[in-house]
Amino acid sequence: MQGRSTTEEIKAKLDVADVLRGYLTLIPAGKNFKALCPFHNEKSPSFIVSPDRQTWHCFGCSLGGDVFSFVMRHDNLEFGEALKILAEKAGVELKRMSPADYEQFGLLYDINDEARRFFKNQLQNAEAAKEYLRTRKLSEEIIDEFDLGWAPNLPDALTVHLLNHNFRPEALIRAGLTFRSTNGLHVDRFRGRIMFPIHNHMSKVVGFTGRILPQFDTGEMGKYVNTPETPIFVKSRVLYGLHKAKGAIRDEKNVFLVEGQMDCLMSRQAGVKNAVATSGTALTLDHLRLLHKLTDQIVLNFDSDAAGLAAGERAIDLATANDFNVKVVTFAAGTYKDAAEAVEKDPEEFLQLIKNAAPAIAFYFDRYLPLGPSGAVGSSHVIQLKKGVRLVLGKIKNLSSAVERDVWLRELSHRVNIEVPTLIEEMRQVESTVSGTVKEEKLVTAVSPNLKTLSRRDLISLHLLAAAVTLDKLEAVLESVHYLPQEHQVAYELMKQGEKQSSDPGIDELLNTIYFFPSPKVEEKDFVELAKQLKQEFLKEHRKKLEWLVKNAERDGDETARQRAMQELNESWSL
Ligand code: CTP
Ligand code: MN
Repeated sequence: MQGRSTTEEIKAKLDVADVLRGYLTLIPAGKNFKALCPFHNEKSPSFIVSPDRQTWHCFGCSLGGDVFSFVMRHDNLEFGEALKILAEKAGVELKRMSPADYEQFGLLYDINDEARRFFKNQLQNAEAAKEYLRTRKLSEEIIDEFDLGWAPNLPDALTVHLLNHNFRPEALIRAGLTFRSTNGLHVDRFRGRIMFPIHNHMSKVVGFTGRILPQFDTGEMGKYVNTPETPIFVKSRVLYGLHKAKGAIRDEKNVFLVEGQMDCLMSRQAGVKNAVATSGTALTLDHLRLLHKLTDQIVLNFDSDAAGLAAGERAIDLATANDFNVKVVTFAAGTYKDAAEAVEKDPEEFLQLIKNAAPAIAFYFDRYLPLGPSGAVGSSHVIQLKKGVRLVLGKIKNLSSAVERDVWLRELSHRVNIEVPTLIEEMRQVESTVSGTVKEEKLVTAVSPNLKTLSRRDLISLHLLAAAVTLDKLEAVLESVHYLPQEHQVAYELMKQGEKQSSDPGIDELLNTIYFFPSPKVEEKDFVELAKQLKQEFLKEHRKKLEWLVKNAERDGDETARQRAMQELNESWSL
Protein backbone atom coordinates (compact mmCIF):
# COMPACT_ATOMS: atom_id res chain seq x y z
CA MET A 1 0.00 0.00 0.00
CA GLN A 2 1.08 3.45 -0.88
CA GLY A 3 1.23 6.13 1.81
CA ARG A 4 -1.50 8.69 2.19
CA SER A 5 -1.56 11.24 -0.61
CA THR A 6 -0.62 14.84 0.15
CA THR A 7 -4.21 15.76 -0.61
CA GLU A 8 -5.45 13.40 2.09
CA GLU A 9 -2.90 14.71 4.54
CA ILE A 10 -3.95 18.30 3.92
CA LYS A 11 -7.63 17.44 4.18
CA ALA A 12 -7.04 15.69 7.46
CA LYS A 13 -5.38 18.80 8.91
CA LEU A 14 -7.95 21.31 7.70
CA ASP A 15 -11.54 21.77 8.72
CA VAL A 16 -13.88 22.46 5.83
CA ALA A 17 -15.90 24.94 7.86
CA ASP A 18 -12.80 26.87 8.92
CA VAL A 19 -11.57 27.13 5.37
CA LEU A 20 -14.94 28.12 3.89
CA ARG A 21 -15.43 30.73 6.61
CA GLY A 22 -12.60 32.58 4.89
CA TYR A 23 -14.83 32.93 1.83
CA LEU A 24 -18.43 32.93 3.11
CA THR A 25 -20.51 33.86 6.09
CA LEU A 26 -21.48 30.56 7.69
CA ILE A 27 -24.64 30.35 9.76
CA PRO A 28 -24.89 27.45 12.23
CA ALA A 29 -27.68 24.99 11.39
CA GLY A 30 -27.69 22.01 13.71
CA LYS A 31 -24.43 20.19 13.28
CA ASN A 32 -24.01 21.78 9.85
CA PHE A 33 -23.63 25.33 8.56
CA LYS A 34 -25.65 27.21 5.97
CA ALA A 35 -24.53 29.97 3.63
CA LEU A 36 -25.57 31.84 0.51
CA CYS A 37 -24.18 29.86 -2.37
CA PRO A 38 -21.28 31.65 -4.08
CA PHE A 39 -21.86 29.68 -7.27
CA HIS A 40 -25.35 30.82 -8.15
CA ASN A 41 -27.52 33.81 -7.31
CA GLU A 42 -29.85 33.18 -4.41
CA LYS A 43 -31.61 35.08 -1.66
CA SER A 44 -31.99 32.37 0.96
CA PRO A 45 -29.17 29.98 1.79
CA SER A 46 -29.20 26.54 0.25
CA PHE A 47 -25.47 25.98 0.53
CA ILE A 48 -24.67 23.50 3.31
CA VAL A 49 -21.32 22.74 4.90
CA SER A 50 -20.92 19.51 6.80
CA PRO A 51 -18.03 19.30 9.28
CA ASP A 52 -18.92 15.64 9.81
CA ARG A 53 -18.26 14.69 6.26
CA GLN A 54 -15.83 17.49 5.54
CA THR A 55 -17.79 18.37 2.44
CA TRP A 56 -20.10 21.07 1.09
CA HIS A 57 -23.14 20.92 -1.11
CA CYS A 58 -25.58 23.39 -2.62
CA PHE A 59 -29.17 22.26 -2.96
CA GLY A 60 -29.86 25.18 -5.25
CA CYS A 61 -27.35 24.48 -7.98
CA SER A 62 -26.36 20.99 -6.86
CA LEU A 63 -22.65 21.65 -6.85
CA GLY A 64 -20.61 20.12 -4.10
CA GLY A 65 -17.31 18.66 -3.04
CA ASP A 66 -14.48 19.01 -0.56
CA VAL A 67 -12.16 21.89 0.40
CA PHE A 68 -10.15 21.37 -2.75
CA SER A 69 -13.03 21.54 -5.16
CA PHE A 70 -14.38 24.58 -3.31
CA VAL A 71 -11.18 26.58 -3.56
CA MET A 72 -10.57 25.49 -7.16
CA ARG A 73 -14.04 26.53 -8.22
CA HIS A 74 -14.27 29.67 -6.14
CA ASP A 75 -10.96 31.11 -7.28
CA ASN A 76 -10.84 29.30 -10.60
CA LEU A 77 -7.62 27.54 -9.73
CA GLU A 78 -5.85 24.52 -11.06
CA PHE A 79 -5.58 21.57 -8.73
CA GLY A 80 -1.86 22.30 -8.31
CA GLU A 81 -2.52 25.91 -7.31
CA ALA A 82 -5.20 24.94 -4.82
CA LEU A 83 -2.80 22.38 -3.43
CA LYS A 84 -0.22 25.07 -2.75
CA ILE A 85 -2.69 27.37 -1.03
CA LEU A 86 -4.25 24.68 1.12
CA ALA A 87 -0.89 23.08 1.95
CA GLU A 88 0.19 26.41 3.34
CA LYS A 89 -2.97 26.76 5.41
CA ALA A 90 -2.56 23.21 6.69
CA GLY A 91 1.14 23.62 7.40
CA VAL A 92 1.92 20.63 5.21
CA GLU A 93 5.19 20.82 3.39
CA LEU A 94 4.86 20.15 -0.31
CA LYS A 95 7.58 17.96 -1.59
CA ARG A 96 6.88 16.69 -5.04
CA MET A 97 3.44 15.69 -6.13
CA SER A 98 2.55 12.45 -4.39
CA PRO A 99 2.13 9.35 -6.57
CA ALA A 100 -1.61 9.33 -5.97
CA ASP A 101 -2.00 13.00 -6.93
CA TYR A 102 0.21 12.49 -9.95
CA GLU A 103 -1.90 9.56 -11.10
CA GLN A 104 -5.04 11.65 -10.78
CA PHE A 105 -3.96 14.89 -12.44
CA GLY A 106 -0.29 15.27 -13.30
CA LEU A 107 -0.21 12.26 -15.56
CA LEU A 108 -3.08 13.62 -17.65
CA TYR A 109 -1.23 16.90 -18.19
CA ASP A 110 1.90 15.02 -19.25
CA ILE A 111 0.02 12.85 -21.72
CA ASN A 112 -1.74 15.84 -23.28
CA ASP A 113 1.51 17.71 -23.56
CA GLU A 114 3.25 14.83 -25.29
CA ALA A 115 0.26 14.52 -27.65
CA ARG A 116 0.53 18.23 -28.44
CA ARG A 117 4.21 17.77 -29.31
CA PHE A 118 3.42 14.74 -31.46
CA PHE A 119 0.63 16.46 -33.44
CA LYS A 120 2.74 19.56 -33.93
CA ASN A 121 5.62 17.52 -35.33
CA GLN A 122 3.31 15.61 -37.61
CA LEU A 123 2.09 18.84 -39.16
CA GLN A 124 5.59 19.69 -40.41
CA ASN A 125 5.39 16.98 -43.06
CA ALA A 126 1.66 16.83 -43.67
CA GLU A 127 1.39 18.67 -46.97
CA ALA A 128 -2.38 18.21 -47.35
CA ALA A 129 -3.04 19.63 -43.90
CA LYS A 130 -0.71 22.56 -44.47
CA GLU A 131 -2.39 23.25 -47.78
CA TYR A 132 -5.78 23.27 -46.08
CA LEU A 133 -4.60 25.77 -43.47
CA ARG A 134 -3.27 27.94 -46.29
CA THR A 135 -6.68 27.93 -47.97
CA ARG A 136 -8.18 29.03 -44.65
CA LYS A 137 -5.62 31.90 -44.70
CA LEU A 138 -4.26 31.10 -41.26
CA SER A 139 -0.76 32.55 -40.85
CA GLU A 140 2.35 30.52 -39.95
CA GLU A 141 2.77 32.65 -36.83
CA ILE A 142 -0.69 31.88 -35.48
CA ILE A 143 -0.35 28.19 -36.36
CA ASP A 144 2.87 28.06 -34.38
CA GLU A 145 1.74 30.29 -31.51
CA PHE A 146 -1.38 28.19 -30.88
CA ASP A 147 0.42 24.87 -31.37
CA LEU A 148 -1.80 23.65 -34.19
CA GLY A 149 -1.03 20.12 -35.27
CA TRP A 150 -2.01 17.17 -37.39
CA ALA A 151 -3.42 13.79 -36.37
CA PRO A 152 -2.42 11.32 -39.10
CA ASN A 153 -5.23 9.43 -40.79
CA LEU A 154 -4.07 6.14 -39.24
CA PRO A 155 -5.72 3.89 -36.63
CA ASP A 156 -3.26 4.32 -33.77
CA ALA A 157 -0.35 6.62 -34.62
CA LEU A 158 -0.68 8.67 -31.44
CA THR A 159 -1.45 5.70 -29.21
CA VAL A 160 1.70 3.91 -30.37
CA HIS A 161 3.76 7.05 -29.89
CA LEU A 162 2.48 7.52 -26.35
CA LEU A 163 2.94 3.85 -25.46
CA ASN A 164 6.54 4.22 -26.60
CA HIS A 165 6.80 7.06 -24.09
CA ASN A 166 5.82 4.58 -21.38
CA PHE A 167 2.29 5.78 -20.79
CA ARG A 168 -0.11 2.93 -20.07
CA PRO A 169 -3.14 2.30 -22.30
CA GLU A 170 -5.55 2.88 -19.39
CA ALA A 171 -4.02 6.31 -18.82
CA LEU A 172 -4.40 7.19 -22.51
CA ILE A 173 -8.05 6.19 -22.35
CA ARG A 174 -8.53 8.26 -19.21
CA ALA A 175 -6.98 11.24 -21.03
CA GLY A 176 -9.59 10.74 -23.77
CA LEU A 177 -7.04 10.35 -26.55
CA THR A 178 -7.46 6.61 -27.07
CA PHE A 179 -10.48 4.35 -26.93
CA ARG A 180 -10.94 0.64 -27.02
CA SER A 181 -12.75 -0.54 -30.15
CA THR A 182 -15.41 -3.24 -29.99
CA ASN A 183 -12.80 -5.84 -30.94
CA GLY A 184 -10.50 -4.78 -28.13
CA LEU A 185 -7.96 -2.74 -30.12
CA HIS A 186 -6.63 0.59 -28.92
CA VAL A 187 -7.62 3.28 -31.40
CA ASP A 188 -6.83 7.00 -31.69
CA ARG A 189 -9.82 9.25 -31.09
CA PHE A 190 -8.41 11.83 -33.50
CA ARG A 191 -7.59 10.67 -37.03
CA GLY A 192 -7.15 12.72 -40.19
CA ARG A 193 -7.78 15.94 -38.31
CA ILE A 194 -6.23 19.38 -37.87
CA MET A 195 -5.59 19.51 -34.15
CA PHE A 196 -6.26 22.54 -31.95
CA PRO A 197 -4.86 22.01 -28.45
CA ILE A 198 -7.03 23.55 -25.75
CA HIS A 199 -4.98 25.27 -23.07
CA ASN A 200 -6.26 26.11 -19.64
CA HIS A 201 -5.61 29.57 -18.24
CA MET A 202 -2.24 28.31 -16.92
CA SER A 203 -1.28 27.48 -20.52
CA LYS A 204 -1.30 23.75 -19.91
CA VAL A 205 -2.90 21.58 -22.56
CA VAL A 206 -5.98 19.89 -21.11
CA GLY A 207 -7.62 18.60 -24.26
CA PHE A 208 -8.03 18.95 -28.01
CA THR A 209 -10.53 19.69 -30.65
CA GLY A 210 -9.86 18.26 -34.10
CA ARG A 211 -11.28 19.43 -37.42
CA ILE A 212 -11.62 16.81 -40.11
CA LEU A 213 -9.66 17.48 -43.29
CA PRO A 214 -12.37 17.67 -45.98
CA GLN A 215 -10.82 14.88 -48.09
CA PHE A 216 -11.01 12.44 -45.16
CA ASP A 217 -14.57 13.37 -44.21
CA THR A 218 -16.73 10.26 -44.51
CA GLY A 219 -19.62 12.03 -42.82
CA GLU A 220 -19.67 9.39 -40.08
CA MET A 221 -18.10 11.59 -37.43
CA GLY A 222 -18.67 15.27 -36.73
CA LYS A 223 -16.77 18.02 -38.50
CA TYR A 224 -15.21 18.64 -35.12
CA VAL A 225 -14.36 16.04 -32.50
CA ASN A 226 -13.50 17.06 -28.95
CA THR A 227 -11.71 15.41 -26.04
CA PRO A 228 -14.42 13.99 -23.77
CA GLU A 229 -14.69 15.38 -20.24
CA THR A 230 -11.77 14.27 -18.07
CA PRO A 231 -10.63 15.27 -14.58
CA ILE A 232 -8.61 18.09 -16.17
CA PHE A 233 -10.90 18.96 -19.09
CA VAL A 234 -14.29 20.37 -18.24
CA LYS A 235 -15.72 21.96 -21.38
CA SER A 236 -18.07 24.30 -19.62
CA ARG A 237 -15.13 25.85 -17.78
CA VAL A 238 -12.56 26.23 -20.54
CA LEU A 239 -12.41 29.10 -23.00
CA TYR A 240 -10.31 28.56 -26.08
CA GLY A 241 -7.54 31.13 -26.41
CA LEU A 242 -7.92 32.59 -22.92
CA HIS A 243 -4.32 31.79 -21.99
CA LYS A 244 -3.14 34.18 -24.72
CA ALA A 245 -5.96 36.73 -24.45
CA LYS A 246 -5.98 37.24 -20.66
CA GLY A 247 -3.67 40.27 -20.66
CA ALA A 248 -5.45 42.01 -23.53
CA ILE A 249 -8.85 41.42 -21.94
CA ARG A 250 -7.66 43.03 -18.73
CA ASP A 251 -5.98 45.94 -20.52
CA GLU A 252 -8.86 46.67 -22.86
CA LYS A 253 -11.45 45.85 -20.16
CA ASN A 254 -13.28 43.97 -22.85
CA VAL A 255 -13.50 40.47 -24.25
CA PHE A 256 -14.38 39.44 -27.81
CA LEU A 257 -16.26 36.16 -27.62
CA VAL A 258 -16.82 33.93 -30.63
CA GLU A 259 -18.10 30.40 -31.25
CA GLY A 260 -15.25 28.42 -32.73
CA GLN A 261 -11.50 27.90 -32.81
CA MET A 262 -11.14 29.21 -36.35
CA ASP A 263 -13.14 32.34 -35.50
CA CYS A 264 -10.93 32.95 -32.48
CA LEU A 265 -7.65 32.43 -34.33
CA MET A 266 -8.64 34.49 -37.36
CA SER A 267 -9.86 37.32 -35.13
CA ARG A 268 -6.53 37.32 -33.39
CA GLN A 269 -4.75 37.28 -36.72
CA ALA A 270 -6.70 40.42 -37.66
CA GLY A 271 -5.32 42.03 -34.50
CA VAL A 272 -8.13 41.34 -32.06
CA LYS A 273 -5.98 40.15 -29.18
CA ASN A 274 -8.81 39.83 -26.67
CA ALA A 275 -10.56 37.08 -28.65
CA VAL A 276 -11.65 33.84 -26.99
CA ALA A 277 -14.05 31.09 -28.03
CA THR A 278 -16.40 28.67 -26.39
CA SER A 279 -15.43 25.29 -27.67
CA GLY A 280 -17.92 22.57 -28.48
CA THR A 281 -20.52 23.86 -26.01
CA ALA A 282 -22.86 26.78 -25.44
CA LEU A 283 -21.79 29.63 -23.18
CA THR A 284 -22.18 28.68 -19.51
CA LEU A 285 -22.25 30.44 -16.17
CA ASP A 286 -18.81 29.00 -15.45
CA HIS A 287 -17.43 30.67 -18.57
CA LEU A 288 -18.92 33.96 -17.43
CA ARG A 289 -17.52 33.55 -13.96
CA LEU A 290 -14.11 33.00 -15.46
CA LEU A 291 -14.41 36.18 -17.55
CA HIS A 292 -15.88 38.24 -14.74
CA LYS A 293 -12.53 38.14 -12.99
CA LEU A 294 -11.06 40.05 -15.94
CA THR A 295 -13.81 42.30 -17.23
CA ASP A 296 -17.53 42.97 -17.27
CA GLN A 297 -17.74 43.97 -20.92
CA ILE A 298 -18.36 41.42 -23.64
CA VAL A 299 -18.54 41.86 -27.36
CA LEU A 300 -20.36 38.82 -28.66
CA ASN A 301 -20.16 37.52 -32.18
CA PHE A 302 -21.98 34.53 -33.53
CA ASP A 303 -22.72 32.79 -36.81
CA SER A 304 -25.30 34.56 -38.92
CA ASP A 305 -27.43 31.44 -39.52
CA ALA A 306 -30.54 30.59 -37.51
CA ALA A 307 -28.69 28.27 -35.11
CA GLY A 308 -26.03 30.91 -34.52
CA LEU A 309 -28.64 33.58 -33.81
CA ALA A 310 -30.49 31.35 -31.36
CA ALA A 311 -27.29 30.45 -29.50
CA GLY A 312 -26.29 34.12 -29.61
CA GLU A 313 -29.56 35.23 -28.06
CA ARG A 314 -29.14 32.78 -25.19
CA ALA A 315 -25.59 33.98 -24.66
CA ILE A 316 -26.69 37.62 -24.61
CA ASP A 317 -29.42 36.95 -22.07
CA LEU A 318 -27.22 34.85 -19.82
CA ALA A 319 -24.43 37.43 -19.86
CA THR A 320 -26.81 40.37 -19.37
CA ALA A 321 -28.56 38.67 -16.48
CA ASN A 322 -25.17 38.12 -14.88
CA ASP A 323 -24.13 41.76 -14.87
CA PHE A 324 -22.18 41.91 -18.09
CA ASN A 325 -22.41 44.86 -20.39
CA VAL A 326 -23.02 43.13 -23.71
CA LYS A 327 -22.46 44.36 -27.24
CA VAL A 328 -23.10 42.39 -30.37
CA VAL A 329 -21.39 42.09 -33.73
CA THR A 330 -23.46 40.52 -36.48
CA PHE A 331 -22.86 40.07 -40.17
CA ALA A 332 -25.58 41.32 -42.48
CA ALA A 333 -27.42 38.63 -44.40
CA GLY A 334 -25.52 37.60 -47.49
CA THR A 335 -22.17 38.90 -46.27
CA TYR A 336 -20.14 36.58 -44.03
CA LYS A 337 -21.11 33.35 -42.29
CA ASP A 338 -18.80 33.84 -39.33
CA ALA A 339 -15.77 35.74 -38.02
CA ALA A 340 -13.29 33.40 -39.72
CA GLU A 341 -14.80 34.12 -43.10
CA ALA A 342 -15.04 37.84 -42.45
CA VAL A 343 -11.33 38.05 -41.62
CA GLU A 344 -10.45 35.83 -44.56
CA LYS A 345 -12.26 38.17 -46.96
CA ASP A 346 -11.77 41.60 -45.44
CA PRO A 347 -9.90 42.06 -42.14
CA GLU A 348 -10.28 45.84 -42.20
CA GLU A 349 -14.03 45.69 -42.49
CA PHE A 350 -14.08 43.11 -39.72
CA LEU A 351 -12.24 45.47 -37.37
CA GLN A 352 -14.67 48.22 -38.31
CA LEU A 353 -17.65 46.00 -37.50
CA ILE A 354 -16.22 45.27 -34.05
CA LYS A 355 -15.67 48.95 -33.45
CA ASN A 356 -19.33 49.55 -34.32
CA ALA A 357 -20.68 46.73 -32.17
CA ALA A 358 -24.25 47.49 -31.11
CA PRO A 359 -25.54 47.29 -27.55
CA ALA A 360 -27.46 44.05 -27.02
CA ILE A 361 -30.82 45.84 -26.81
CA ALA A 362 -30.22 47.59 -30.12
CA PHE A 363 -29.51 44.17 -31.58
CA TYR A 364 -32.93 43.03 -30.31
CA PHE A 365 -34.60 46.14 -31.75
CA ASP A 366 -33.31 45.17 -35.15
CA ARG A 367 -34.15 41.54 -34.70
CA TYR A 368 -37.71 41.89 -33.42
CA LEU A 369 -39.08 45.26 -34.45
CA PRO A 370 -40.26 46.51 -37.81
CA LEU A 371 -37.84 48.90 -39.42
CA GLY A 372 -38.01 52.63 -38.89
CA PRO A 373 -39.64 54.80 -36.21
CA SER A 374 -42.94 55.36 -37.99
CA GLY A 375 -44.94 53.86 -40.82
CA ALA A 376 -44.87 50.30 -39.55
CA VAL A 377 -47.82 50.74 -37.21
CA GLY A 378 -50.55 49.93 -39.67
CA SER A 379 -53.39 47.87 -38.15
CA SER A 380 -52.35 44.68 -39.95
CA HIS A 381 -49.05 44.98 -38.15
CA VAL A 382 -50.49 45.37 -34.69
CA ILE A 383 -50.22 41.72 -33.71
CA GLN A 384 -46.76 41.43 -35.16
CA LEU A 385 -45.77 44.64 -33.45
CA LYS A 386 -47.17 43.58 -30.09
CA LYS A 387 -45.21 40.36 -30.23
CA GLY A 388 -42.00 42.16 -31.12
CA VAL A 389 -42.49 44.87 -28.51
CA ARG A 390 -43.15 42.29 -25.82
CA LEU A 391 -40.02 40.37 -26.73
CA VAL A 392 -37.93 43.51 -26.59
CA LEU A 393 -39.57 44.66 -23.35
CA GLY A 394 -38.61 41.33 -21.82
CA LYS A 395 -35.00 42.01 -22.74
CA ILE A 396 -35.13 45.54 -21.33
CA LYS A 397 -36.67 44.18 -18.16
CA ASN A 398 -33.64 41.93 -17.93
CA LEU A 399 -31.21 44.87 -17.61
CA SER A 400 -29.89 45.32 -14.11
CA SER A 401 -29.56 49.11 -14.27
CA ALA A 402 -32.68 51.28 -13.94
CA VAL A 403 -31.00 54.09 -15.84
CA GLU A 404 -30.31 51.82 -18.76
CA ARG A 405 -33.87 50.54 -18.69
CA ASP A 406 -35.09 54.12 -18.87
CA VAL A 407 -32.84 54.96 -21.81
CA TRP A 408 -34.00 51.97 -23.80
CA LEU A 409 -37.67 52.49 -23.02
CA ARG A 410 -37.43 55.99 -24.48
CA GLU A 411 -35.62 54.64 -27.50
CA LEU A 412 -38.28 51.97 -27.94
CA SER A 413 -41.04 54.54 -27.53
CA HIS A 414 -39.51 56.57 -30.30
CA ARG A 415 -38.99 53.58 -32.51
CA VAL A 416 -42.50 52.12 -32.33
CA ASN A 417 -44.38 55.31 -31.57
CA ILE A 418 -45.91 54.13 -28.29
CA GLU A 419 -45.87 56.27 -25.11
CA VAL A 420 -43.36 55.26 -22.41
CA PRO A 421 -46.02 54.77 -19.67
CA THR A 422 -47.85 52.34 -21.95
CA LEU A 423 -44.63 50.44 -22.52
CA ILE A 424 -43.96 50.31 -18.79
CA GLU A 425 -47.43 48.91 -18.20
CA GLU A 426 -46.85 46.27 -20.86
CA MET A 427 -43.42 45.49 -19.42
CA ARG A 428 -45.02 44.60 -16.09
CA GLN A 429 -46.99 41.86 -17.78
CA VAL A 430 -44.04 40.30 -19.57
CA GLU A 431 -41.91 40.40 -16.46
CA SER A 432 -42.56 36.87 -15.31
CA THR A 433 -42.07 35.08 -18.59
CA VAL A 434 -38.78 36.62 -19.51
CA SER A 435 -37.06 36.70 -16.16
CA GLY A 436 -38.37 33.15 -15.92
CA THR A 437 -36.48 32.01 -18.96
CA VAL A 438 -33.35 33.62 -17.67
CA LYS A 439 -33.69 31.98 -14.29
CA GLU A 440 -34.34 28.68 -15.96
CA GLU A 441 -31.26 29.18 -18.09
CA LYS A 442 -29.22 29.80 -14.95
CA LEU A 443 -30.47 26.59 -13.45
CA VAL A 444 -30.11 24.54 -16.58
CA THR A 445 -26.47 25.43 -16.85
CA ALA A 446 -25.80 24.98 -13.17
CA VAL A 447 -27.72 21.83 -12.30
CA SER A 448 -26.06 18.61 -13.23
CA PRO A 449 -27.83 16.51 -15.84
CA ASN A 450 -28.28 13.70 -13.32
CA LEU A 451 -30.47 15.78 -11.10
CA LYS A 452 -32.61 17.45 -13.70
CA THR A 453 -34.99 14.59 -14.36
CA LEU A 454 -35.36 12.42 -11.30
CA SER A 455 -37.66 9.47 -11.69
CA ARG A 456 -39.54 8.12 -8.69
CA ARG A 457 -37.12 5.22 -8.53
CA ASP A 458 -34.15 7.62 -8.52
CA LEU A 459 -35.68 9.49 -5.64
CA ILE A 460 -36.47 6.41 -3.55
CA SER A 461 -32.99 5.10 -4.27
CA LEU A 462 -31.44 8.38 -3.10
CA HIS A 463 -33.49 8.18 0.10
CA LEU A 464 -32.45 4.59 0.65
CA LEU A 465 -28.74 5.20 0.13
CA ALA A 466 -28.84 8.31 2.32
CA ALA A 467 -30.65 6.38 5.01
CA ALA A 468 -28.03 3.64 4.80
CA VAL A 469 -25.32 6.24 5.35
CA THR A 470 -27.14 7.80 8.28
CA LEU A 471 -27.85 4.45 9.92
CA ASP A 472 -24.34 3.29 9.07
CA LYS A 473 -25.57 0.10 7.48
CA LEU A 474 -24.37 0.20 3.91
CA GLU A 475 -24.15 -3.58 3.69
CA ALA A 476 -27.93 -3.80 4.15
CA VAL A 477 -28.39 -2.22 0.71
CA LEU A 478 -26.85 -5.33 -0.86
CA GLU A 479 -30.24 -7.05 -1.10
CA SER A 480 -31.59 -4.10 -3.07
CA VAL A 481 -28.61 -3.50 -5.32
CA HIS A 482 -30.31 -5.02 -8.30
CA TYR A 483 -33.15 -2.50 -8.03
CA LEU A 484 -30.93 0.60 -7.85
CA PRO A 485 -30.60 2.72 -11.00
CA GLN A 486 -27.37 1.95 -12.88
CA GLU A 487 -25.43 5.02 -11.74
CA HIS A 488 -26.53 4.51 -8.15
CA GLN A 489 -25.04 1.01 -8.29
CA VAL A 490 -21.70 2.50 -9.31
CA ALA A 491 -21.93 5.08 -6.53
CA TYR A 492 -22.85 2.37 -4.03
CA GLU A 493 -19.79 0.30 -4.96
CA LEU A 494 -17.59 3.33 -4.24
CA MET A 495 -19.40 4.06 -0.98
CA LYS A 496 -18.81 0.52 0.23
CA GLN A 497 -15.11 1.08 -0.36
CA GLY A 498 -15.31 4.20 1.78
CA GLU A 499 -14.88 6.55 -1.18
CA LYS A 500 -16.51 9.97 -0.91
CA GLN A 501 -15.39 11.21 -4.31
CA SER A 502 -15.26 9.98 -7.89
CA SER A 503 -13.30 11.19 -10.89
CA ASP A 504 -16.46 10.75 -12.97
CA PRO A 505 -18.27 14.09 -12.55
CA GLY A 506 -21.71 12.48 -12.83
CA ILE A 507 -21.01 9.91 -10.14
CA ASP A 508 -19.28 12.49 -7.98
CA GLU A 509 -22.37 14.65 -8.10
CA LEU A 510 -24.44 11.69 -7.10
CA LEU A 511 -22.18 10.87 -4.16
CA ASN A 512 -22.52 14.43 -2.94
CA THR A 513 -26.24 14.30 -3.17
CA ILE A 514 -26.37 11.02 -1.28
CA TYR A 515 -24.06 12.18 1.49
CA PHE A 516 -26.07 15.37 1.86
CA PHE A 517 -29.52 14.03 1.39
CA PRO A 518 -31.61 15.48 4.20
CA SER A 519 -32.60 12.47 6.29
CA PRO A 520 -32.85 13.83 9.80
CA LYS A 521 -34.57 11.08 11.79
CA VAL A 522 -34.43 7.89 9.79
CA GLU A 523 -35.11 4.73 11.63
CA GLU A 524 -34.61 1.11 10.91
CA LYS A 525 -38.23 0.66 9.80
CA ASP A 526 -37.97 3.55 7.32
CA PHE A 527 -35.07 1.79 5.76
CA VAL A 528 -37.02 -1.42 5.35
CA GLU A 529 -39.96 0.51 3.91
CA LEU A 530 -37.72 2.31 1.40
CA ALA A 531 -36.20 -0.98 0.26
CA LYS A 532 -39.70 -2.34 -0.29
CA GLN A 533 -40.79 0.73 -2.26
CA LEU A 534 -37.67 0.61 -4.37
CA LYS A 535 -38.40 -2.95 -5.39
CA GLN A 536 -42.01 -2.09 -6.21
CA GLU A 537 -40.96 0.88 -8.29
CA PHE A 538 -38.37 -1.21 -10.09
CA LEU A 539 -40.97 -3.87 -10.90
CA LYS A 540 -43.39 -1.22 -12.10
CA GLU A 541 -40.81 0.13 -14.55
CA HIS A 542 -39.79 -3.40 -15.48
CA ARG A 543 -43.36 -4.43 -16.30
CA LYS A 544 -44.02 -1.27 -18.25
CA LYS A 545 -41.02 -2.06 -20.38
CA LEU A 546 -42.17 -5.65 -20.93
CA GLU A 547 -45.72 -4.57 -21.79
CA TRP A 548 -44.23 -2.24 -24.32
CA LEU A 549 -42.17 -5.09 -25.76
CA VAL A 550 -45.24 -7.27 -26.00
CA LYS A 551 -47.12 -4.54 -27.86
CA ASN A 552 -44.22 -3.99 -30.25
CA ALA A 553 -43.89 -7.71 -30.91
CA GLU A 554 -47.63 -7.93 -31.64
CA ARG A 555 -47.40 -5.02 -34.02
CA ASP A 556 -44.42 -6.59 -35.79
CA GLY A 557 -46.03 -10.05 -35.78
CA ASP A 558 -42.95 -11.43 -33.99
CA GLU A 559 -44.44 -14.38 -32.11
CA THR A 560 -41.22 -15.60 -30.46
CA ALA A 561 -40.46 -12.15 -29.10
CA ARG A 562 -44.04 -11.80 -27.90
CA GLN A 563 -43.95 -15.09 -26.02
CA ARG A 564 -40.61 -14.34 -24.45
CA ALA A 565 -41.81 -10.95 -23.22
CA MET A 566 -45.11 -12.43 -22.00
CA GLN A 567 -43.30 -15.10 -20.05
CA GLU A 568 -41.02 -12.57 -18.41
CA LEU A 569 -44.03 -10.45 -17.63
CA ASN A 570 -45.75 -13.37 -15.92
CA GLU A 571 -42.62 -14.22 -13.98
CA SER A 572 -42.29 -10.65 -12.80
CA TRP A 573 -45.43 -11.11 -10.70
CA SER A 574 -43.74 -13.75 -8.58
CA LEU A 575 -40.59 -11.68 -7.98
N1 CTP B 1 -18.25 22.21 -32.93
C1 CTP B 1 -18.11 20.99 -32.32
N2 CTP B 1 -18.60 19.86 -32.90
C2 CTP B 1 -19.22 19.91 -34.12
C3 CTP B 1 -19.38 21.15 -34.75
C4 CTP B 1 -18.89 22.29 -34.13
O1 CTP B 1 -17.55 20.90 -31.25
N3 CTP B 1 -19.67 18.80 -34.68
C5 CTP B 1 -17.72 23.41 -32.27
C6 CTP B 1 -16.31 23.69 -32.70
O2 CTP B 1 -15.60 24.21 -31.60
C7 CTP B 1 -16.50 24.73 -33.78
C8 CTP B 1 -17.69 25.51 -33.27
O3 CTP B 1 -18.49 24.54 -32.62
O4 CTP B 1 -15.37 25.53 -33.93
C9 CTP B 1 -18.45 26.24 -34.33
O5 CTP B 1 -19.04 25.32 -35.24
P1 CTP B 1 -19.18 25.66 -36.78
O6 CTP B 1 -19.65 27.06 -36.95
O7 CTP B 1 -19.90 24.56 -37.44
O8 CTP B 1 -17.68 25.52 -37.21
P2 CTP B 1 -16.71 26.57 -37.86
O9 CTP B 1 -15.92 27.23 -36.80
O10 CTP B 1 -17.42 27.46 -38.80
O11 CTP B 1 -15.80 25.54 -38.60
P3 CTP B 1 -15.04 25.66 -39.95
O12 CTP B 1 -14.89 27.12 -40.18
O13 CTP B 1 -13.75 24.96 -39.68
O14 CTP B 1 -15.87 24.96 -40.97
MN1 MN C 1 -18.67 28.89 -37.76
